[in-house]
Amino acid sequence: MTAVPDIEFRGVAKRYGAVTAVSGIDLAVPPSAFVALLGPSGCGKTTCLRMIGGFEQPSEGQVFIRGQDMAGTPPYRRPVNMVFQQYALFPHLDVEANVSYGLRQARPRLSSREIGQRAGEALEMVRL
Ligand SMILES: Nc1ncnc2c1ncn2[C@@H]1O[C@H](COP(=O)(O)OP(=O)(O)O)[C@@H](O)[C@H]1O
Ligand SMILES: [Mg+2]
Repeated sequence: MTAVPDIEFRGVAKRYGAVTAVSGIDLAVPPSAFVALLGPSGCGKTTCLRMIGGFEQPSEGQVFIRGQDMAGTPPYRRPVNMVFQQYALFPHLDVEANVSYGLRQARPRLSSREIGQRAGEALEMVRL
């Protein structure tokens, strides 16, 4: 017998008018698994999280949490929490400075050349 997934997507799509944010998502997160969604900016990661949280409804398919179809269940009645990405950003810093913030705090100190290079690699990886 297979354990009921903590999170399951069955044939999920989300469209905003003419824009298809995600489509054909089938996903099963096993109980207590630690999962990261990785992909370039705009590939639909946040849209998937918002559908788990109940902040968006799928255009197609179903989202299950611990085996329960979440259709029609509002965010405050779902057994999940969401940290919104804008809270992780410093509004007074630009993109590069936000990305390199942690490297600037590192002790022993890194050279600004290394900080710039590593931040650049991270930005390139996510195509920002
Ligand atoms: N509210 C919205 N209205 C219109 N298009 C949206 C909306 N939210 C997201 N999109 C579009 O859906 C796609 C996926 O966005 P998103 O889920 O934010 O990607 P990611 O989090 O992976 O960067 C992008 O093309 C984005 O422009
Ligand atoms: Mg996002």
